[in-house]
Amino acid sequence: VRLSYPDWIVDWARQELGDADGIEALAAMNQAATVTRRADGYVQDRASQWVTVAVGAQPGERVLDLCAAPGGKATALAEAGAHVTAVDRRPHRAATVQENARTLGVPPSDLAVVVADGRAAPFGPETFDRVLVDAPCSGLGVLRRRPDARWRVTPTDVTELADLQQALLTAAAALVRPGGRLVYSVCTLTEPETTDIDTWLADALPDLEAVAPPEPWQPRGRGGWLLPQWEGTDGMYLLMLDRPAEGAP
Ligand SMILES: C[S@@+](CC[C@H](N)C(=O)[O-])C[C@H]1O[C@@H](n2cnc3c(N)ncnc32)[C@H](O)[C@@H]1O
Repeated sequence: VRLSYPDWIVDWARQELGDADGIEALAAMNQAATVTRRADGYVQDRASQWVTVAVGAQPGERVLDLCAAPGGKATALAEAGAHVTAVDRRPHRAATVQENARTLGVPPSDLAVVVADGRAAPFGPETFDRVLVDAPCSGLGVLRRRPDARWRVTPTDVTELADLQQALLTAAAALVRPGGRLVYSVCTLTEPETTDIDTWLADALPDLEAVAPPEPWQPRGRGGWLLPQWEGTDGMYLLMLDRPAEGAP
């Protein structure tokens, strides 16, 4: 009642984040969100900017953003010099990627928008140097931006979204070339959508090698996370996985 959250979210935060960190995270998400602008003027939380950095796109590389709308990360990847393919399942959301690219002056030759289900996207195997899965999630790390979401999200959503995240990652992994990188991020902190995904991936796709995310990410499983109270960012989880080059031991 004091923090105005449904009981299940308070129970979840205390159990999975720890008593003190959990309550602190919930309190931090009752504060107004900070507004940060990139050099190109696009408003984007710093944690999201650090996800883009983790993709590590190099000029000329083919990069796929499998869940791209509204295009915050896709436009930043294109500005880093990559040829970006931005996929989103919902046509009106995919249109926002195009709109944002236009506003930022990113030419269509650098950022192609495709409306498709990421679980069955129309690309050949191993066609991309890097693939980002910034997956649909329960959003429990960004409740300061969507204060009402706490009353809409349910524990069932969390399990259903974890299934969708696994399916998206299975499809995404097949699209990464040997020597390329797969990045998974979510703006939530629940175990089924973070460390359980990591554990499942280690078993399902054992050839992918996890890379520890750099500071300010704090280690969580083979990936890293940011609680909202640590850096004043959204709460995020990040996994970086490299596919060994062909012939590598
Ligand atoms: C967290 S948002 C992506 C944010 C975006 N990467 C950015 O930085 O601006 C997740 C997106 O996934 C899309 N989505 C949901 N299910 C999908 C699916 N099966 N295939 C592709 N996109 C999907 C949603 O429409 C939503 O736009």
